[in-house]
Parts: sequence; C-alpha cells; structure tokens
Amino acid sequence: MIKFKPGKIIPAGDMYFIYGDGGTGKTSLSKQLTGNKVLLMFDGSYNALADTTDTMVYSFDDTDAPTLQQTVWQTVNMLANSEKVDAIILDNVTALQNWVLENIDGASKDGRQNYQKLQVWFRDLGMMLRRSKKTVLATAHQIDNGSNGLDGKGRFEADMNAKTFNAFTAPFDVVGRIYKDQKKRYIDLDSEQGNHAKNRLDERTLINASELFESKQEEKTA
Ligand SMILES: Nc1ncnc2c1ncn2[C@@H]1O[C@H](COP(=O)(O)OP(=O)(O)O)[C@@H](O)[C@H]1O
Ligand SMILES: [Mg+2]
Repeated sequence: MIKFKPGKIIPAGDMYFIYGDGGTGKTSLSKQLTGNKVLLMFDGSYNALADTTDTMVYSFDDTDAPTLQQTVWQTVNMLANSEKVDAIILDNVTALQNWVLENIDGASKDGRQNYQKLQVWFRDLGMMLRRSKKTVLATAHQIDNGSNGLDGKGRFEADMNAKTFNAFTAPFDVVGRIYKDQKKRYIDLDSEQGNHAKNRLDERTLINASELFESKQEEKTA
C-alpha cells in the first residue's frame, strides 16, 4: 500500500524500457529527462555522460559483481524512497542480468531453478521501480535474429532471458527499440512489427529518439 500525506501526492512517473545496438544513443537518452536523475550503470559506458551536470552516476564493475544483487537492491530501494530523486535510470539491464545470472549460477548448479530465481529477482526489481512512482528508464542490448520471411517481422528483441524480460518489463509503460538510420535516431514502439515493443502512454508507433519523453510533457502543459 502507498499512503500520501495531504498536499504531498507525488504523480506517478512513467517507465520506459529501450533496447538497441551499441552506439545508438541509449545512455544519452537519460539527458532528455528532467529533474534530479540517478543513473546506475552496468556496462561502463559513462563517457556519454561526461558533459552532464545534472546526473548522479553509480558505475558498477567487476569488483562489485560478487555482491551485485544486494548492492543494486539496496541502492534502488534507497533511491525509490528518496524525495530528492525524480528519475532512476538502469543502464544497461543486459549487463546487469548477466552478472546476476553468473552469481546465481555460481551458488547453485540447478540451471532451471537458477533461471526462476533470476526471473523472480527481476520481477521484484521491476515492481520496486513501479512502487517508487518515479520516472524510470531502463536500457538493454538488442538481439538481431536476422530477416526471416518477406516482412522481417519479429526480427529484434532485447538481449535478455525471455521470461526475465517479461517479468521485468510487465510494469513498464513503454518498450521500444532505438536505432540509427541516415544519422538520425528513431525509436520503434510498434507492437505490430512483431518485435518487443509496447506503448501504453499514447498512440505513437515510430518516434524520433529526441521525442521519447514528450507525450507526458505535452499533456502536462496542455
Ligand atoms: N541524440 C543524439 N544526438 C547526437 N549525438 C548523439 C545522440 N545520442 C547519442 N549521441 C552520440 O552517439 C554516441 C553513442 O551514444 P551512447 O548514448 O553512448 O549510445 P549507447 O549507450 O547506445 O551505446 C555518443 O558519442 C553520443 O554522444
Ligand atoms: Mg551506453
């Protein structure tokens, strides 16, 4: 249950999950968010943020790996409960998942049960992020299955264990694939293309990457 004191009602933030190839601009997307931002980085690609002044970055590396679940859980929990934080960014969840799986595999050899543990951990992480009511951006790498068939539908997916992806992204409002074409950046939100995609916020199916967070802002100023 969430209780708001009178006059202290915090509007729920939207949750965005964006996957794509390296260099397509996933990390840079966080620059378009407003307010106090905290970014948890799992792939060391923080150079893209060197010119920012409004983002706190926690960059995890192999030295954190043995206790990563605990550290990430505690950190997200702390951020989720901080009134000073407006947006939480997880960049990138593919790397996070692989570290978590390595830890779980190291502790037990039961592969099937290990994937279940992975799913449950990510499901609960997704729920904690939703409960935070903050704006959330999570990124992931993509898998390109190659064009099969004439229409190429279902070609792209996030690089994660499929059930873990479903468990984690259930509370997310938007799932999209970022890509570059002729030097411009786009995000595909169209579930009808057969790729991992959804858009619960509005009717847009293909957007310029620079417009990702705009639907809500327009609504607010309207
Ligand atoms: N909207 C943008 N306009 C111009 N350059 C961009 C934009 N987004 C990203 N870049 C540049 O593209 C490169 C890769 O971006 P980055 O965010 O690190 O991608 P990723 O996290 O997907 O690997 C960086 O040099 C970054 O400055
Ligand atoms: Mg990056």
